[in-house]
Amino acid sequence: MLWFREMGRSGGHVPCCLLICWWAGMSAAQEGLHFLESPSNLTSSLGKDVKLRCSVQAHGEPPEISWLRDGAALELADSNQVQVPEEEEAWLVISELSIPSVQLMDTGSYQCAVLVNGTEILSGEAYLELEGESCF
Ligand SMILES: *[C@@H]1O[C@H](CO)[C@@H](O)[C@H](O)[C@H]1NC(C)=O
Ligand SMILES: *[C@@H]1O[C@H](CO)[C@@H](O)[C@H](O)[C@H]1NC(C)=O
Repeated sequence: MLWFREMGRSGGHVPCCLLICWWAGMSAAQEGLHFLESPSNLTSSLGKDVKLRCSVQAHGEPPEISWLRDGAALELADSNQVQVPEEEEAWLVISELSIPSVQLMDTGSYQCAVLVNGTEILSGEAYLELEGESCF
């Protein structure tokens, strides 16, 4: 808060959105965590096995990656997490979500999420679609 007032006094007219973006960037950096890889869009066909992947780089404790479909937690997701130690107590955490025999109900938008200090951080989202879906 003090910082904002000081910026004002120093006379700079920094647009509000820039300040907010800078602030958001700062707090993400403090968490020491960011997504390196978000799942990618995929068009599959009915009954095929599908895998989606995402990865995060984290400092400190390696976080647990969970998956969301259309914004809702996939409680029973079949996902596999691999943690690779890097230098300076950093971790590369990779999560792979397996969807065996894709059905129409599996289509939608997929995202990875990690909980850091009670704050949920989301990856980019990817759409899983079925070939010929528009025929239904
Ligand atoms: C979580 O919060 C504690 C206390 O505020 C802080 O020391 C720690 O670095 C935070 N962890 C992460 C991963 O940001
Ligand atoms: C994924 O698909 C969505 C909607 O079809 C599209 O808006 C988005 O740009 C695509 N993302 C990539 C990385 O191609």
